[in-house]
Amino acid sequence: MDTQKISKNVSPVLSPRQLARRRGDYGVDAPYVPGTFGVIGFILLGGGLLLIWLWQWLVPGVILLVYAAMMFFSMASYLYTTRRGKFLVWAELLGQLHMRGDEQVLDLGCGRGAVLLMAAQLLPRGKATGVDLWKTSDQSGNALDVTRRNAELEGVAERVALHTGDMRTLPFADESFDVVLSSLAIHNIQDAQGRLQAVNEAVRVLRPGGRLLLADFRATQPYPERLRELGMAEVTHRSLGWRFWYGHPWAATRLVSARKPA
Ligand SMILES: C[S@@+](CC[C@H](N)C(=O)[O-])C[C@H]1O[C@@H](n2cnc3c(N)ncnc32)[C@H](O)[C@@H]1O
Repeated sequence: MDTQKISKNVSPVLSPRQLARRRGDYGVDAPYVPGTFGVIGFILLGGGLLLIWLWQWLVPGVILLVYAAMMFFSMASYLYTTRRGKFLVWAELLGQLHMRGDEQVLDLGCGRGAVLLMAAQLLPRGKATGVDLWKTSDQSGNALDVTRRNAELEGVAERVALHTGDMRTLPFADESFDVVLSSLAIHNIQDAQGRLQAVNEAVRVLRPGGRLLLADFRATQPYPERLRELGMAEVTHRSLGWRFWYGHPWAATRLVSARKPA
C-alpha cells in the first residue's frame, strides 16, 4: 500500500461519510458480548420451536421466540455500532470541532484506532496520540502493532504516536493537548474513583481553550459534576443516538463534552 499517495488524498474538509470510510480493520468491542447475545438467541429459538412443534405449547413457545428475536436484534445492533455506527457518529463529532489541522489530539483508550485515526486524517500539520493498555477482552485483536498497521493503511502513520499506558496516570505534561477524547474506554476501569482519576488526567493534559469529548455507554453520570469542580466550562451530557447503541437503548452511548477556559 502506498501510504504517501493516500496521505495526499486526505483533506481536512472531508464529509463525515468520507471520513468514516475505513481501510484498516478495527475489530469488535468486547467481542464476548455479541457472541453471548447470539448463543442465547439460538438457545431460545431452538427451545421455542421445540415447544411449538413437539408439544404444541403455543404461548410459551411464542414467548421464547419473541425473546430470541430480541437477542438477535441486540446482536445486530451491537455489531452495527461497533463496525459502522460509531465511525459515523465520531466522524460527525470530529467534524463539529472545526479543527485547523495543526492541533495535538489525545485519544484515551484508543484501541485499534477507530477514532484516533479519523482524527489524524483531520490533522495534516498536527498529531494524534493514542494511549492504551491493549486489552483483547475489551476489543478483539487489540495490539499496538495492529493499530500502527491501521495507521499505515489509513495513510496517517506519520502523524500518529502510540503509547502503552494507563489513562489514570498519563505520561504527558500538563496542558499539552488541544483536544482530549475517549470512546468506549473509561468504563473499563472497574472502580468509580479510578474513572474520575482518568477524567482528572484528561483535564490536566488539556490546554486552556482545549476541548474534551468523552463518549461511553455507562458510568458517565458523575463526569459533568467532576468537570465543573475542575473549572471546565460548557459542560454538556447527551445521548449519541441509535447508531451508538450497544445492543439496545439501555446501552446507549452518551457524550460528555466540555471546554477548558482560556
Ligand atoms: C472497547 S475498546 C475501545 C477502543 C477505541 N476507543 C474504539 O472506540 O474503538 C476499550 C479500550 O480501552 C482500553 N483500556 C481499558 N482500560 C484502560 C486503561 N486503564 N488505560 C488505557 N486504556 C485502557 C482497552 O485496552 C481498549 O483498547
